Amino acid sequence: MPNTEKTTSQRLFWPIAVLLVFVGPTLYWDSLIAQIGIDVITQTIKIFKYTVATLAWLSVAWLVVRLLDVLFWDGLVAPRLGGPVPRLLKDVVGALVFLVAITGIIGGVFNLPVSGIWATSGVVGLVVGLAVQSMISDVFSGIAINVDRPFRIGDWVQLHQRGIPNMIGCVEEVNWRSTRLKTTDGVLHVVPNNLISTIIVTNLMKPEPQSRFELFFTLDFAVPVERGLRVLNAGVKAAKGPLADPTPKVRVNRITEYGVEYKARYWLLPAQISPNKGRHIVCSSVMDHLHQAGLTLAYQKQDLYVAPMPNRQLTLEADRKAIIERIEIFKSLEPEEEEILAKRITQITVNPGDTIVENGAAGESMYILVEGLLFVYADFEGTGQTTQVARLTPGQFFGEMSLLTGEPRSATIEAATSAVVYEVTKHDLQALIEGRPEIAATITQVVAERRTRNLKARDALHHDDHEEETKNFADQLLGKMRSFFRGIGLGD
Ligand code: CMP
Repeated sequence: MPNTEKTTSQRLFWPIAVLLVFVGPTLYWDSLIAQIGIDVITQTIKIFKYTVATLAWLSVAWLVVRLLDVLFWDGLVAPRLGGPVPRLLKDVVGALVFLVAITGIIGGVFNLPVSGIWATSGVVGLVVGLAVQSMISDVFSGIAINVDRPFRIGDWVQLHQRGIPNMIGCVEEVNWRSTRLKTTDGVLHVVPNNLISTIIVTNLMKPEPQSRFELFFTLDFAVPVERGLRVLNAGVKAAKGPLADPTPKVRVNRITEYGVEYKARYWLLPAQISPNKGRHIVCSSVMDHLHQAGLTLAYQKQDLYVAPMPNRQLTLEADRKAIIERIEIFKSLEPEEEEILAKRITQITVNPGDTIVENGAAGESMYILVEGLLFVYADFEGTGQTTQVARLTPGQFFGEMSLLTGEPRSATIEAATSAVVYEVTKHDLQALIEGRPEIAATITQVVAERRTRNLKARDALHHDDHEEETKNFADQLLGKMRSFFRGIGLGD
């Protein structure tokens, strides 16, 4: 504190001293001259008087500038800004004070009409202003930037030109005319203040020190989305550089003409890792993971087939076997068994709102959903009222409980859109089980696993022994199936 006071008085000492030296003689000039006994003021004395008066005005201006510095800028404004007041602002105000002093000298000391001078200087100013208008606009934009403080020295910012993200750099300096950005290529970009105040500037370190970045990767259509997400997610998370919290994420962004585009999002602290370096780290890690998985990014290509054209669109009737292959419940079937089943199943098309199976009704077939969306309504609470408990999407099956056990339907399945399903009847399944009774055990195992998964997802499985739960249910189901399919070699 005492240190500051010393500095302040030091800063004010010389302006006050000079002021006293010049203002004193100016005010008491006439009596001073009379006292010394000089009645005729010579030309030299007159010039001397003008000089002293002029210096008096200038010293007043100097003192005012210093007082503004000490009391206003440093005393009032700086604490509010939370940092030093920009030099640019002080200089402009200082220049205005000296301009007033010069006007005072012209009017007060030399008794010249100030309005004329202002008019003339106005014309001169206009001409000069026109000539250096972009510079003036830079200076005022610089003042605006200094007052508004959209970024500080050391902040990483991104400039957008015509709304398009353009340059990313670290703010090195903001001066009268320009803002200087250092980019990772080691060069300094001088951006005129006038430009920077008219474009969008994204401060990557405000309001939080970290910000989110995005990278896009496109994988071929042949790569299943689940696999694409797995490999890319691991690639982004394994990258050493992005923050672990918030966690990096990968999402499907869109479908392009090359394949499926994924968006990887990750967070960086630009003060520690520049956005370019972050991009390098994430890209390298992702490429490494893709390479290890035997995948490449999708590129522009044309398929030239010298062999018969493969099916690009599954024709449902022709590809029944392919449909069966994809269904989890039939995963243990041998290719010949899939053929047998494929020949027997029946295609059914349903309209929106149609009920396919009804809660409580008898039924001896299950269904495979191939196209469309179905809703499952069940009466879990036993109130007699069914509520929607699940949605079925293509590739899923339903109605297996009644098919396997002969019990009434446990839920109602209604079509939310028009849909295509394949019906598998008890006789179709019987044809397979007769040939290979072990199929029954694998089917009941899959059904039990799906039930455990559903219970876990609904948080209704209150104990942790999922395997035990699945096994118990699979055994129960197999027991019921044995009695329902009795006489076809399932034994007891
Ligand atoms: P099933 O009881 O034969 O007939 C109704 C079907 O709805 C049932 O077999 C299951 O396939 C299905 N189902 C019942 N509850 C659900 C659920 N929570 N999620 C998905 N499918 C279900």
